[in-house]
Amino acid sequence: MATHKLLLLPGDGIGPEVMREVEKIVGWFARNGVGFETEADLVGGAAYDAHGVSISEAAMARAQEADAVLFGAVGGPKWDGVPYAVRPEAGLLRLRKDLGLFANLRPAICYPALADASSLKREVVEGLDIMIVRELTGGVYFGEPKEIVTLEDGSQRAVDTQLYTTGEIERIARVAFDLAGKRRNKVSSAEKSNVMKTGVLWRQIVTRIHREEFPATQLEHVLADNCAMQLVRNPKQFDVIVTDNLFGDILSDIAAMLTGSLGMLPSASLGAVDPKTGSRKALYEPVHGSAPDIAGKGLANPIAMIGSFGMALRYSFGLIEAADMLDRAIANVLASGTRTRDIAAPGANAVGTQEIGDAIVKELSALS
Ligand code: NAD
Ligand code: IPM
Ligand code: MN
Repeated sequence: MATHKLLLLPGDGIGPEVMREVEKIVGWFARNGVGFETEADLVGGAAYDAHGVSISEAAMARAQEADAVLFGAVGGPKWDGVPYAVRPEAGLLRLRKDLGLFANLRPAICYPALADASSLKREVVEGLDIMIVRELTGGVYFGEPKEIVTLEDGSQRAVDTQLYTTGEIERIARVAFDLAGKRRNKVSSAEKSNVMKTGVLWRQIVTRIHREEFPATQLEHVLADNCAMQLVRNPKQFDVIVTDNLFGDILSDIAAMLTGSLGMLPSASLGAVDPKTGSRKALYEPVHGSAPDIAGKGLANPIAMIGSFGMALRYSFGLIEAADMLDRAIANVLASGTRTRDIAAPGANAVGTQEIGDAIVKELSALS
């Protein structure tokens, strides 16, 4: 039986709760012929409490060696006062940067059973299937200088730097065009070239990569603020949206609500393909955070986390049938009405986090 090395980093808040449900799914696949070798480590506030840093060097080394990392969520009010450099979120940013995970794929799919769960009208979201490709290791998240400076008069000035290079834009554009070619062949590139130099360069380079390498794909440029509005007005006009780190963060939370809940949106954070081995570094993380308001109550929707494991099956391990089966199992469980509170039908009883994991495992057995 082939084994795949998975590192589990559950993190904080609902992270460990949703990770436990993924472990059930991993266990089911292991019993059914797809072996995984799993180890776990601390990240975020949990790592800070244990080691005084948001990820230890040992955990970083394990992440470098894993075939794929599954990441829960980090952060929470408990760590609001800790120094910026060791905040829980810094552990996630370091993983992304040090593993070179520049391409974050955030698919927003409205499952048929959830067309009434969105805060938008059924006809706006029914059949929705879009992919946000978020640049993940550049832009204002990492640009230098990034600091708060105290001025002579005692007041302060804070600086973040939005910075992009040609190479960074080229590689994320290629990921977006490649993906579009396997979908409906349309790319919408979102930036603010009307006010930002990085937006001007972004538009120029995406235009050139399109002309030189992907002329058969439809390309449109859309200003990021308009893109946010269009996502709510008529999201089905989009196929692939490619955008920078910060806009991608915001646009993907908007897209999440089109699917019914932030608890539904998985993601894959991918590095460059190694030409020698054909493999790439990868981390799979739900789009949501540690949800302090519901943590510890068994209310969290684990589908974003379970769907992230599905993306690992697809993108890291090439187990397309297994990934399709997991997607079908999720769709069937949702159709049966077994849902957490965030997506429950009006008047219907909601179940807890663990019941969803159990129901998906049962459905996998029924499908196999
Ligand atoms: P959040 O995503 O944690 O929660 C926003 C809202 O969505 C909350 O009402 C929450 O209950 C709900 N929600 C989120 N996930 C859910 C799920 N699986 N099921 C049901 N409801 C869900 O965002 P926030 O409250 O702004 O941030 C809380 C903390 O999480 C902060 O410290 C933030 O930095 C961190 N965060 C971490 C990640 C990550 O680890 N990838 C992502 C986003 C935010
Ligand atoms: C996300 C999160 C992270 C981000 C935070 C926790 C660093 O919001 O993955 O969407 O801003 O990228
Ligand atoms: Mn976010």
